[in-house]
Amino acid sequence: MTAQALLRRLAIEHPILLAPMAGSGGTPELAAAVSNAGGLGAWGGAYAKPDDLAAAIRKIRQLTARPFNINLFAGGYATDHGIDPRPMLEIVGQVHAELGLPPPSLPPLAESPFAAQLEVVLEERPPVFSFTFGAPSAAQMAALKKRDIVVIGTATTGEEARILAQLGVDAIVAQGAEAGAHRGTFAASFEDSMVPLARLMRDIRTADIAVPVIASGGIMDARDVARCLGDGAAAVQLGTAFLPCPESGAPPVHKQALLAAKKDTTVITRAFSGRPARGLSNRFIAMVAGKEQAILPFRQQNDLTRPMRNAAGQRGVADLISLWAGQGVARSRAMPAADLVAVLLEEIPVHP
Ligand SMILES: Cc1cc2nc3c(=O)[nH]c(=O)nc-3n(C[C@H](O)[C@H](O)[C@H](O)COP(=O)(O)O)c2cc1C
Repeated sequence: MTAQALLRRLAIEHPILLAPMAGSGGTPELAAAVSNAGGLGAWGGAYAKPDDLAAAIRKIRQLTARPFNINLFAGGYATDHGIDPRPMLEIVGQVHAELGLPPPSLPPLAESPFAAQLEVVLEERPPVFSFTFGAPSAAQMAALKKRDIVVIGTATTGEEARILAQLGVDAIVAQGAEAGAHRGTFAASFEDSMVPLARLMRDIRTADIAVPVIASGGIMDARDVARCLGDGAAAVQLGTAFLPCPESGAPPVHKQALLAAKKDTTVITRAFSGRPARGLSNRFIAMVAGKEQAILPFRQQNDLTRPMRNAAGQRGVADLISLWAGQGVARSRAMPAADLVAVLLEEIPVHP
């Protein structure tokens, strides 16, 4: 499928996709702003309860008549581990004491909410559904297709792209190693799946995968967009670039840290959630460094650190929240999402 064919399938004007950002970054307002500007807005529902997911989809529909994407985590949950939780409870406990919070308690090992969330997606029928951290079953794919929902999967290696193409996705987000927040890796170790975007695009091209590829990771300006489209991407997907927008829900302290970044100080860490993710280096990451064996699995670690992150976010303590960011962070700028879409389109030589 050509770039134009993907735009037609998505029913959008411009090859610019907002990254779904589950948690604090994404909002229905940000999704609608990007869709209304002619790109594809997105909302990450991975942490949402089924009712909240349905409410967010309805809210986006109130704010835009254009297509949008709903995203979920299709895997990544550990069921059993056998890690002694006491060392991590002690580390987080120290921070709780500093913040004046009661001592942390161990959250249960959550089961994946994916099946229940997907029921909501099938019911509400957003125009586009995307997933990361794994893949739906063949039966789930068939149910999505039956409702004529466009399906996009996330790959961090050529092999993952091949698996997704075989499963029948309509497009693949190629998530380069530069990308902000969680790695979507699902078919090999995280260490072996840190492929920079340009190489990942090449790997997918040489694997001869006949599915349009959406480039993602470190894309911040019009030149990056033009380069990716020139490299054969059918479209691009940006997260970090949209985080400082007024429509984004990132806490002000997160936005300030992105805008203040003069160089790339991002690192890959499991400290906040139990799953490798890229963010600006800070004190909590340093507190856990060298103690990785104490980190609980996704998403028990995420649930354990949530009270700390929420309290720190509200109080403006950048050192104790997950400052998710991609490697292009030093080129962050604050402007309304529609203006950013316009700026990103500036240097596309031949507009598809
Ligand atoms: C704050 C934040 C949250 C994210 N949450 C999700 C998510 O829920 N689902 C998903 O598929 N990707 C998520 N991503 C990853 C993006 O889809 C994309 O790979 C990444 O933003 C690209 O790199 P960039 O941030 O440098 O643009 C998130 C990224 C950020 C920055």
